[in-house]
Amino acid sequence: MASSLKQQLLLWLLVPMLIIAPVAAALQYWLVISPAKQEFDHQLGDFAIAMASFLKVEGNNFHFNMTDETEHLLRTDQLDEEFFLVLTPDGKRLAGDTTLNTPEAKVAAGEMHYVDRKINSRMVRMVLYGVACGENPCQIRMAETQIKRNKVHFHALTTTLLSILLLGLTTTIVMLIAVKHGLKPLQDLRNQLADRPLDDLKPVDLPHAPAELQPLINTLNQLFKRQANATLLQNSFLADAAHQLRTPLTALQTESELSLLEPHPESLHPTLQRMHQSACRAAKLANQLLVIARTDQDGQRNAGFSRINLKDVGIDAANEWSSRAYAAGVDLGFQLDTAYINGQAILLQELVSNLIHNSIEHAGKNAQITVKTYTSESHSILEVEDDGPGIEEHERQKVLQRFFRGLHAKGFGSGLGLAIVNDIVRIHKAEIALLTPDNSAGLLVRVTF
Ligand SMILES: Nc1ncnc2c1ncn2[C@@H]1O[C@H](COP(=O)(O)OP(=O)(O)OP(=O)(O)O)[C@@H](O)[C@H]1O
Ligand SMILES: [Mg+2]
Repeated sequence: MASSLKQQLLLWLLVPMLIIAPVAAALQYWLVISPAKQEFDHQLGDFAIAMASFLKVEGNNFHFNMTDETEHLLRTDQLDEEFFLVLTPDGKRLAGDTTLNTPEAKVAAGEMHYVDRKINSRMVRMVLYGVACGENPCQIRMAETQIKRNKVHFHALTTTLLSILLLGLTTTIVMLIAVKHGLKPLQDLRNQLADRPLDDLKPVDLPHAPAELQPLINTLNQLFKRQANATLLQNSFLADAAHQLRTPLTALQTESELSLLEPHPESLHPTLQRMHQSACRAAKLANQLLVIARTDQDGQRNAGFSRINLKDVGIDAANEWSSRAYAAGVDLGFQLDTAYINGQAILLQELVSNLIHNSIEHAGKNAQITVKTYTSESHSILEVEDDGPGIEEHERQKVLQRFFRGLHAKGFGSGLGLAIVNDIVRIHKAEIALLTPDNSAGLLVRVTF
């Protein structure tokens, strides 16, 4: 399956974000935590330094004189439990909590080491402070549980996670909107192309398309122009060929008709009749091809359009078809009301002629045919209705295609009549419907302008 540009863009934007977000979160967490941790360590260190002032050295004797009040002050903390231990240079306890007497490295006088230890199954932070005590240093140890520190860790972690989550969420939403917005011109182009009929070769019109899309639009428009020229050439070739064929075929039609009237051997009669029928079909086909080519040309150029009363089209059809209908034994009636449209008179006459011809041909002898023109809900409408066999539902779309004839079609047609009607309807931007008349079987062709 072709990969989607939208998906690719989102992938390129979101994957780096998914990688960067945890790194940024870790960095933010570290930036919040590390000064806080330093601050707590400093406080612990400051206590150790303060305690050093209670340590007295007299020769080989060491004294640690801290009052109970001072010790109480030292151990007071709202959250954590505080411990201390004072050791002589040879590691003997001078004062404080024996629990802190864990094996530790020696610390030079004036230096501080910070370590994390487990004391009585609780984690404590401990500072080891070296104090000058003659040749070797004494050691003051000050420690506290880590409730304060854990609170700060937890706070830093939740704020970091929340801010990264919020940032990630808003960035994702913004990206989705931005990608959708950025791809909109492409969508517009797609819609313009998808909605247009196959024969619409007008240039694409997207005035606000971004510069990146313009070359594609220009190329498409050049392609449409070339295609339109090629279609025009093809149509004019078709028109020329049909026109050239029409004259000899009409002559052949007349000649074959005459030869049927002349005395001829009985055995030749069927052959002459078939020749005459074929000549008639070929001449009609040449005429139809000519109409198709001209309709396409006019449609592309929008040529010859003017204000036309459908009633006049109906009157012309009445003049042309009344006697032929009488001869064919069908009852052709007209109900013509004024209905103006913008159209091409010759093509509209061709349209009505094809519909009447179809009704005479396919509805058969004694058929009742009615041609109507009227307006309804601000639309001009032209209808041709007959009470013949009609067209079955499943064939109604197909009969509008070129060269399709129904299973029970009568006469020697080529299946072009309704295709021509459809072409004419299309270039008038009208709509055609093949319906069943309300109160009889048959066919009702309605063209709504
Ligand atoms: N009034 C009608 N009643 C019943 N069937 C019809 C009617 N008009 C058209 N049809 C059906 O639709 C088919 C297509 O009609 P269309 O006019 O395109 O071709 P055609 O009449 O067969 O040939 P052509 O018009 O080229 O002489 C016909 O073959 C016929 O089956
Ligand atoms: Mg026909």
